Amino acid sequence: MDKAEGKNQTPIMELMLLGFGNGPELQPLLFLLFLVIYLAAVTENLLIIVLVMAYQHLHTPMYYFVANLSSVELCYVSTTLPRLIGSLLTGDRTISLQNCIVQFDFYGILSTIECLLLTAMCYDRYLAICHPLRYPALMNGRVCGHMVAGCWIFTISYAIMVHIFILQLTYCGPKEIDHFFCDFAPVKDPFCGETQTLQWLTFFFAVIFTIGIFLFTLATYICIVANILRIPSSTGKKKAFSTCSSHLIVVMVYYVSIMTVYVVPLLNPPAIFPKIMSVWFAVLIPLLNPLIYFLRNKEVHQSLRKAMWKLVAYRYRHGV
Ligand SMILES: *[C@@H]1O[C@H](CO)[C@@H](O)[C@H](O)[C@H]1NC(C)=O
Repeated sequence: MDKAEGKNQTPIMELMLLGFGNGPELQPLLFLLFLVIYLAAVTENLLIIVLVMAYQHLHTPMYYFVANLSSVELCYVSTTLPRLIGSLLTGDRTISLQNCIVQFDFYGILSTIECLLLTAMCYDRYLAICHPLRYPALMNGRVCGHMVAGCWIFTISYAIMVHIFILQLTYCGPKEIDHFFCDFAPVKDPFCGETQTLQWLTFFFAVIFTIGIFLFTLATYICIVANILRIPSSTGKKKAFSTCSSHLIVVMVYYVSIMTVYVVPLLNPPAIFPKIMSVWFAVLIPLLNPLIYFLRNKEVHQSLRKAMWKLVAYRYRHGV
């Protein structure tokens, strides 16, 4: 019905993101909640980046990847949350179609890069544990830089391609989107025009990309676990495991979440479920990942402690 109407109406240029319901007493609470989460996520991720840059012993491919992941997560929360927080504060839920598409592009680019970086990190751990002797030759700052650049180039070229297709279409979905940021996934047939190619493109990409990356990750982790189990001494086992446990947890959290997205809809969950999963991916994972590295990596929390002592000593000396 919307579509037939859309044809002879003026095209929609402004959308409305419904966010989290209408309850006026709920909005200040949500505002505070998301503000706190946003500030915490930004602080944590900045802290990781600063620590990796500042401490010489964190200048290794593994921590370069961790810092790069943190910068991606920093951008990731910054594409969705500031707008949401602003709209919870002002009550203004409108967004122009153009800004909406930009937000959609950024969200897509950053989530793809996040996934690629996690895969590159798997490869790094795989080399470190399964080919320890060749590791320094196969993985160093330069290789790591090439891999990071490769992730960005691949993702941005794909995003530009999709964007060019979208520019040729007109938006003919509903004016109101029941979501808290611009993601067209929950909208059925958001665009009209020659959508066939775009649909095939995104479908192939999603299938090949997701399955390929998942199998690759699985294979590297099977190798890693098999190699660790083969180490005779238990201290050696522990040591090898400790270098990849935080990454393993991060990857597991990520894939369990993705599986939840695919499996739970089969069980007829309440209508709020997709929104909760989006909060989880867009907001809580960037908050959780740095915490995992802080808590599980001795090198990271030792550096953090050192940095804190420096700060305390500085304040003591300068009497602030
Ligand atoms: C990302 O990785 C590159 C390449 O190794 C590294 O030089 C750079 O410092 C990393 N970025 C951050 C923010 O640490």
